[in-house]
This record gives sequence, structure tokens and C-alpha cells, in this order.
Amino acid sequence: MFVFIRRMIKQELKDDYYRGSMYNILLRLKFFIIFILIANIVFADTLGKEEIENKVDTLLSKMTLQEKIGQMQQISFWGSVEDLRETIKNGKVGSFLNASDAKSTYELQKIAVEETRLGIPLIFARDVIHGQETIFPIPLGQAASWNAELIEKAARVAAVEATATGIKWTFAPMIDISRDPRWGRVAESCGEDPYLTSKLGAAMIKGFQGKDLTDPTSMAACAKHFVGYGASEAGKDYNTTFIPERQLREIHLKPFKEAVDVDVASMMSAFNDINGIPASGNKFTLKTILRDEWGFNGLVVSDWASMTQMIMHGFCEDEKEVAFKSIEANIDMEMASTSYIDHLETLINEKKIDAALIDNAVKNILRLKYKLGLFENPYTAIPDSKVARQEEHLKVAEKLAGQSIVLLKNKNEILPLSDDFKKIAVIGPLADNALEQNGCWVFEGFGKDGITPLTALKEKFGNDKEVIFAKGLKSTVDSDEDGFADAISAANKSDVVLLFIGEDAFLSGESHCRAFLNLPGAQEELVSKLAATGKPIITIIMAGRPLTFEKIESEVDAILYAWHPGTMGGPAIADILTGVETPSGKLPITFPRSVGQIPIYYAHHNTGRPAESVDRSVPLGTPLNPKGFASFYLDVDISPAYPFGYGLSYTKFDYSAIKIFKEKYKLGEIIEVECLLKNLGNYNADEIVQLYIRDLSASAVQPVKLLKGFQRIHLKTDETKTVKFSIHTDELSIHDAEMESVTEPGKFKIWIGSNSADLLESEFEIIK
Ligand code: NOJ
Repeated sequence: MFVFIRRMIKQELKDDYYRGSMYNILLRLKFFIIFILIANIVFADTLGKEEIENKVDTLLSKMTLQEKIGQMQQISFWGSVEDLRETIKNGKVGSFLNASDAKSTYELQKIAVEETRLGIPLIFARDVIHGQETIFPIPLGQAASWNAELIEKAARVAAVEATATGIKWTFAPMIDISRDPRWGRVAESCGEDPYLTSKLGAAMIKGFQGKDLTDPTSMAACAKHFVGYGASEAGKDYNTTFIPERQLREIHLKPFKEAVDVDVASMMSAFNDINGIPASGNKFTLKTILRDEWGFNGLVVSDWASMTQMIMHGFCEDEKEVAFKSIEANIDMEMASTSYIDHLETLINEKKIDAALIDNAVKNILRLKYKLGLFENPYTAIPDSKVARQEEHLKVAEKLAGQSIVLLKNKNEILPLSDDFKKIAVIGPLADNALEQNGCWVFEGFGKDGITPLTALKEKFGNDKEVIFAKGLKSTVDSDEDGFADAISAANKSDVVLLFIGEDAFLSGESHCRAFLNLPGAQEELVSKLAATGKPIITIIMAGRPLTFEKIESEVDAILYAWHPGTMGGPAIADILTGVETPSGKLPITFPRSVGQIPIYYAHHNTGRPAESVDRSVPLGTPLNPKGFASFYLDVDISPAYPFGYGLSYTKFDYSAIKIFKEKYKLGEIIEVECLLKNLGNYNADEIVQLYIRDLSASAVQPVKLLKGFQRIHLKTDETKTVKFSIHTDELSIHDAEMESVTEPGKFKIWIGSNSADLLESEFEIIK
């Protein structure tokens, strides 16, 4: 750069016009320097990338085949550091998962850096799913906040706490589109919608990865599970999936594409087979789409033994074939099983695979290690003071837990609790259980220091109110009614009952699926017995999934759905019950009335014979259905118990005056639509305003509604705001008959409103 400037000055001095005019030269230089500075900022990233590529190539050129294959192995930490010394020294591992304390990660790293030929650092991975020690609500709960900014903050906190122990890679976010609440892993997801999942998944990635991966508090995120895992048949974990390509692209792949767009560092291949080809050996999804179409050069790790499980699938004869099919599909690192380390060398010697495949995989691994700055700073400085559970972290957890709570019912506005209630019965197996309120996928934060609703309420009420506690049932699966007498007596002595029921943590998560979604154990009986006391009942349901609870719905006065809210669940719930906070959560997944309605999701196709959402039951003795031959059930309404996007507030919001700016938009234009939102009630509150569209006629049938935008708007009482959305016509693209992504001219409906079933409607047309 300096040579260039010198030349320029010389050139300028030769010029007659400028000769002698240093001022002019400096003026020109000023602009030039500004240009260089801007160019430096713009191209710094590119230069950094180039530098990393050079380093990767140089290191790769020094590596033996065995060292390369060693990098491709991820081992679960077991036993002691000493047990693993030889494995590391011999270059047979590139990464560990589940080494989670600062001392172990430090010692393991020291062996890799000091005792291996090339000193390549290890990368430590862990399932930091919804927090490290400060536990946030389960991801499905977080999604109910529809608050990308806050979710990003939570992931940042998780990264700060996890990296303090040497973990530089989390296996999150899980962005599988989940439309079957029987599936235990629905708890780990952001729910049923591709748009919402894309936005919230991206927020988590940004939070984990921070502004710069080299920052000591940044860790690599891992978008999982690639792909289609959420479509597991019958909601049974690991099950087969059948997903037509259009659905694959428009539903399941959407959040992963967004993850790539926000620079996710890694992806994990899934356990399921897709249309007969296991996801971990699937060249179409892993190579054609992920690598070739999207240009992803991040690290792809298998799921736990998902490669060798291709033998059980009946897709590979033995582990050698597993290694062959997985490397052909471009999986870079094998988690837990050892087909690569055992067979890749033979496959190379037999010339069955191209050495470039291995080089490419190792490059993806090394690139991430360089990006994380592990070569320069392989060790995590053990912090002097405790990083986890700082005041600030707990505040974020409390805020997110509060915003994740969804108010489903509030008869006669019984909530927030009136001051007249002086004696409060706190009842139920989940009222005082810090461990269960954390939900699935919690390691380091296992129940430690979590604040339960009972503790929080007692603290909040102090001497003003009397709290009478009775568990009623030992756990949510308990069927023994021995504790009922105490619970009923507590209710009888009180003015109001706060009933904490739902699911214990172990009822959701990986491999924890359910065929029935009712409240387990004798919880329904407990509700009925308490209802018989005639006391008002506020039910707080904590669960890892949507439950079916129509039976108790009419017996209680209010229902708050709190998911598994995490460490600060108690204070968050107490604030909502007492009106310090107003509920604002909205369902990220449809709640069915019964298991028989599953799969039920708002973005379904209309069919040629859609039914009205009314009672369809057919009178006995009728020869032919008098209500018409439509798409419905004889024994349950077609509508869900609660629609996607649903959630009440203590205040009342009024939507009016939807306005589409133009009737016709040309391809490439921005569609603008707005409405008025007024707070008619007595509480300042947030409302999540939702925007949906429908492409009315397309070359492939489109869903009856699709979420295309949302905003969290705060309104004081009596305040009115205009809420405006702008969408580029590209965002309305679909996959046509040839599977090309296009926005097709034609008519569209557009809606704004408070949930997928309660909306103001308008329309527009897209023209060429
Ligand atoms: C299996 C799970 O499917 C995956 O989500 C998780 O990250 C790995 N085990 C590692 O624990």
C-alpha cells in the first residue's frame, strides 16, 4: 500500500497542474486513504479467509495419511486423562465430546499441543442446548418468546459459561422442523414453522459464535440434525422419514440454509433415513445440496454412531462400507464410532476412494480450528472468579423464561392474582422441583441453584400472604393418590389454588417419546378433586411438548403454559402470576385436541374438500353424511386445541385498518403492508404481531398460510402503533414443477394478526 501511495505522490508531483500544490495532493490523499481504510474493512474478512486457507494447506501438506484420519475422529471423554494419553499422542483423535471441566480440557489439550508431532490442537464439544450452568427454558419454550434478540443473548451467556471450561463447540441449535408432539425431541426444537425456526436458529448461532470466532468466549455452533429428523414417522425417535423433495426444500432445509447464510461453523448429520437413504450417508442432501448448491465448507460431524448405524438400517454391509459411503457423502468427522479410523486407509490403499475426499474433510476440520484461534490460543485461561450464574446471566434467564410463558386461558380475568387472595395453596409435583423444571439436556446445571415457583412465591409474598404447600403427587407419573388428602385440605384452607403439573424432565428429549399426550400419572384426577373444592384454580403446566388436556380445561380457571422454564423459572412464573409481568408468549407449535389429530400444523394444504371448523359429528342412523363429504373427523373437531401463534395477554389488543400499499407488485419489488395495533386494556404489554401469506394458485399447491414475518411490539395502555411489514417478492418463492426456486406471478392473500387463526385479511397480486 505504501509503495502505491509513494508512486502516486511522485506522479502527482510530475503533473503541471498540481506541481507545487501540496495541499491538493494531501486532499487527494485524504480521499485515497479513506478509500483504503474502507476497502480494508470490507476485504479484511476475505483476507483473513485467504490467510486461513494458506495455513490449512501448509499444515495439510505436512500431515501423514494417518494423522489426517486421526483428525476425523471424535471420541467421547471417558475414564481419566491418563487413559487417553496414548490415543492423543498417536494422533488418533481430533476432537472430544463430553470433556467438560476446565482441568480435563486443559490437560488433554496439553498432550495434543506438546506431545504430538504437529501439535494440532483438539476441539472440545458438548451439548450446550439451553444453557451451561444457567439453564434457560427448553428451546421450544424459548421459541414461544418469538424474541430473536433475547434468544441470541441467552446463547451468548451459554457460550460465555461453556467456553470458561474449554468447550469451544456446542451441538446446538437443533433446527429440525417438529410437527409431532409425540416426538420427545420436539422439546429441543423451535417448533413447527420453517420461518420462525430459521430466524430463531440464526439468533442462537449468532449468540454462540459471537462477533468473531476467535474471541475466547465464542464457540462454534452446530446446526442439527441434517436433515428431516423431525419428520420421524409416528413421532418415534430415530424412525424413518419419507419427505418429497419439495417438502424437504421448503420445510426441512429452510432453517439449515439460513444457518449457512449466517455462517454456522458446523452441521451434524441425522440418525433417520430419508426416503430410504440414511441421512449420514446421503449424498443428495450432504453433498449435492449442502456442499455443491450451498457451498458449505464448514465441518460436518456425524451424530453419535449414526454412521455405523447404517449397518442396522440395512444400507451398509460392514463398517468398511460405512466409511466408504460416509466419506463419499462428505462427512468430515465421525462421532463415537470408528469406521473412518479403522477403514479409510485401506480404502485409499485399495484405490476405492479418492485421497482428495480425505484432504477435503481434514481441511474443513483444520479450518474450524484456525477460525476458532485454537492454534494461537489452545488453552482456556481458567477464570479467577466464577463465570457461571452471574447476576447478569440469571437476569437473561429470568427474562427469557418470562417471555416464553403462554397464557392459554384466563376465565373472568382471574390473573393476575388479586390482592384479595390472602391464602394461597401451592400444589403439585412441579411446584418445588428445581431439577425437573430444567427439562431435558442439562448436564452442568443439573438442578443446582434453580429457583422453584414455591421458593419464588414465598419470597414474593413475604408476610403479606400465607402460602400452604402440598405436593399432591410425588412426581408427574405418580398414580398413588395418597397425597390427595393433603392437597385438598390445602385448597380448602386457601382462597386460590396454584397448581403446578405437567411432565417431569425425563418424559421428553432424545429417545423419550410418548404415544399418549395426556397429563401422566394421576394428575387429571388431582385436578378434578381440587376443582370439586370450588376454589379458583390457576394451572401452570410445565412440559417438554404440547400436551392434550381438554379434559381439565373446563375444570380450571386459568392455564399458563410454562414449558420447562429452567433455572429462573420460579421467579419468572411468580412475576406473571402477580402481574409484575404480563404474559406475551405465543405458541411455536399447534396444540392438538387429541393424539388422533397428529400431524396437525397450521401450514397444511387445503385439499380439494376442506371442512369448516365446526362440529362434524354425524347423527346416528343417517345413511349418508348429511354434512357433506369433506376432510374432517367424525369424533373430534378439525380445529386444534390452540392454534400456532396463540397466546393471551392480561391486556386486550385491537387490530384494525390493514393496508396493503399497492394492489400489484412487480417481481423484485418490496411488498409493504401495515395495520394499527391498539392496547385497549389496563396493562402495558408486548404483543407478537404475525404476518402470513398464501399463494393462491401456484405450479405446486401451497399451504393455506405461511408465516413471513413477526414483530414484538410494546404498547402502553391506550397506546396505538402502526405496525409495518416489508417483504421482498423473492421471499415468496416456491419450488416449481422442475424444483426451481421461483416467485410466480399471481394472486396472494396476506394477513396480519395475533395468531394463525385470528387475522385481518388483505390481498395483492405479483406481476412480471
Ligand atoms: C445424539 C444426539 O442425537 C445429538 O443431538 C447429540 O448432539 C449427540 N448425541 C451428542 O451427545
